[in-house]
Amino acid sequence: MTIVLPNKKSIKLAADTLSSGGVVAFATETVYGLGCDTFNNEAIHQVYSMKGRPKDNPMISHVLDQSWAKKLTNEWDEKCIRLADAFWPGPLTLVLPKRIDVPPEACGGRETVAIRCPNHTVAQELLRSFGHPISAPSANKSGYISPTTAKHVSDEFGEDLLVLDGGSCVDGIESTVLSLVSTPTILRPGTTPPHAIEEIIGPVTELTQKSQTDSPGTTARHYAPRARVILVSTNEMNVFHNDSATAIVLSGTPSSAKFVFQMPKLPREYAASLYRVLREADSAGVSQIAIEQPPQTNDWHAVQDRLSRCSASH
Ligand code: TXA
Ligand code: MG
Repeated sequence: MTIVLPNKKSIKLAADTLSSGGVVAFATETVYGLGCDTFNNEAIHQVYSMKGRPKDNPMISHVLDQSWAKKLTNEWDEKCIRLADAFWPGPLTLVLPKRIDVPPEACGGRETVAIRCPNHTVAQELLRSFGHPISAPSANKSGYISPTTAKHVSDEFGEDLLVLDGGSCVDGIESTVLSLVSTPTILRPGTTPPHAIEEIIGPVTELTQKSQTDSPGTTARHYAPRARVILVSTNEMNVFHNDSATAIVLSGTPSSAKFVFQMPKLPREYAASLYRVLREADSAGVSQIAIEQPPQTNDWHAVQDRLSRCSASH
C-alpha cells in the first residue's frame, strides 16, 4: 500500500504507524511532510536516513495547537501567543529554545526547536489521532524539489511508504521560518510575509542567503532539479534558443525550446504550481531548464528565494 485517501481507518493506521516508531507521509497546506514521532530517536534517525539529510539540519515539529507548543518549549511567551493567534494554523514556523526532554536528535543537535501548526485537515487529523508532536521535513530526498502531491512522494520513496493524500498543496512552497531565540529573525522566507509578521510583533530581521548559517537547510543548492537551471530576464527569454531545454515563462516567449511551461502571473498561484512544474520539467529529461525571472518586488520574495536556490551551482 502506498497512497491512501484520508478517512478514519487510514488516519488510524498512519497514527498507529507513528506510535510504533514508523514513518508516514502526509499532506499539509505548504508541501507534503515525512513524519515521525518527535520523541522517538530511532524514528528520527529513520527519517534522516530515508531523506539522506545531513544530521545537523534540524526538523520542524508539528503541533495541533498552542497548548502542544508547550510540550516542546518552556518559552511560549506573549509574542508567541500573538503570532500564533494571528497565523496558526498556517505557514509560520517558530524557532524557540527547546525543552530539555525534547531529543537533540529531533533538532539537529541544537538547543532550539522549530514549531509549526499546519493548516490542513489531513495533518490535523493525523496529529489529533496520534496525540503528540510530529517531526516532519519535506517528503523529498535531501536537496531535491519538495513534493506538492501524494504522487510526488511515492515517486521518490516507493510503495512501502504510507502517504496520506490530501490533494495538491494550496501554498506550494514551505512555511516561513522565524527565529525568536534572540531578535526576531526570518531564517527562511515563505508564504507568511515579513510585513504581516511585523504588524504583530514589530521589526524583524531577515538573513540574506549568504549570511545564513542559523538554518542549515536553507543554505547552498536546494529545491533543485537534476537538470541545470538558469534564471533569465524577460528580454533574454525572448531570444532564448535551445532545442533541448525547457523554458518556464511568465510573459516572455522563447525563440525555441523543447518544452514551454506558462506560469500564473500572480505570486501565490505561481508558488502553488512551481514545484510541480519543476518536477515535470525535470522528468521530461531535458539538460537545461530556463526560468524567466519574476518581478523583483516584495510579493515575489519567497518565490525569488526558491528560484535562486534551485539555480545555485552544483
Ligand atoms: O512548510 C514546511 O515548513 C514543511 C512542511 C512539511 O511543514 N516542512 C519543511 O521542512 O519545509 P524542512 O525540513 O524541509 O525545512 C525545515 C527548515 C530547514 O531550513 C531547517 O534548517 C529549519 O527549518 N529549521 C528547523 N529547525 C530549526 C532550528 N531549530 N533552528 C533553525 N532552523 C531550523
Ligand atoms: Mg525541505
